[in-house]
Order: sequence, then structure tokens, then C-alpha cells
Amino acid sequence: MRTYIIFVMTFGFLYMIKSHVAQKECHKHCKCTIVPSKKRQAICTGRDLHYIPQFPDAITSVIMSGTNLTHIGENGFQNLTGIRLKDLKLHSNLISFIHEYAFVNLKYLASLRIVQETHLEVNVIKVSVG
Ligand SMILES: *[C@@H]1O[C@H](CO)[C@@H](O)[C@H](O)[C@H]1NC(C)=O
Ligand SMILES: *[C@@H]1O[C@H](CO)[C@@H](O)[C@H](O)[C@H]1NC(C)=O
Repeated sequence: MRTYIIFVMTFGFLYMIKSHVAQKECHKHCKCTIVPSKKRQAICTGRDLHYIPQFPDAITSVIMSGTNLTHIGENGFQNLTGIRLKDLKLHSNLISFIHEYAFVNLKYLASLRIVQETHLEVNVIKVSVG
């Protein structure tokens, strides 16, 4: 009985530590490729996805492609502020609005590519990055 209790306590404790340090997982609609000192990229696709999810800490490049991301509010990039995001590509989503302050907290961003967002007015982008 005593051995059993110690056993349960030890594993309970280890489990707690593990879940505390656990990496954020790659979202089910994304594919994360992490090759240290080479590629640290996440590609998210699918019309079921209507927000930018959380990513593992190592990710530095994110591609959102063919999602149902329509409206990016002031905090719409919130989940990208916890990683060292350098490249962001938005491709063929259904984006019609990006808030002018949405990019403010993306401190490491060096490259932004917005491709085939036919619903997005150019004026909106000018305001955002201007
Ligand atoms: C951040 O990601 C979580 C799940 O990964 C999601 O539920 C949440 O809506 C996202 N937040 C924003 C602001 O997009
Ligand atoms: C995208 O999401 C909106 C609601 O946020 C929904 O009305 C629309 O049908 C979705 N589009 C697709 C192609 O799934």
C-alpha cells in the first residue's frame, strides 16, 4: 500500500512537471517543421481555421494559407507574439480587414508577404504598416 502511494505521488509529480514545461503543440490544422538551425516553419491550411493558433516556441516562420481568417483585429496576431516570428505569409485566406495596430507587437518580424487576399483593400494595409 505504501509503495503504491509513493508510486502514484512520484508519477503525479513528474506529470505535473512535464505538463508545466510542455511545449505548445502544433495546431491540428497546421504542419510544423522544426529542423534546428535550418527550418522552423508552420504551415496552416483549411477553411475550418478562422484564427491564428498558438505555435511551438521554436517556430520562426508562419504561413497561413487557404484558411477562413477573415477579420484580424487589434489582438488578432496575439498568438504570434510569444514566438520569435521572423516571416509571416498570408496567402489565399479570406481576409478583409487587418487592424492598424495588429502588427505592433511582432517585434522580430522582418518579412511580411500578403498574397492573393482579394477581399483585402490595399488602403487597409497602407494604414497598418505605414
Ligand atoms: C490563440 O490560439 C488559441 C488556440 O491555439 C485560440 O483558441 C485563440 O482563439 C487564439 N487567439 C487569437 C487572438 O487568435
Ligand atoms: C468562414 O467563417 C464564416 C464565419 O466566421 C462563415 O460564415 C463562412 O461560411 C466560413 N467560410 C467558409 C468557406 O467556410
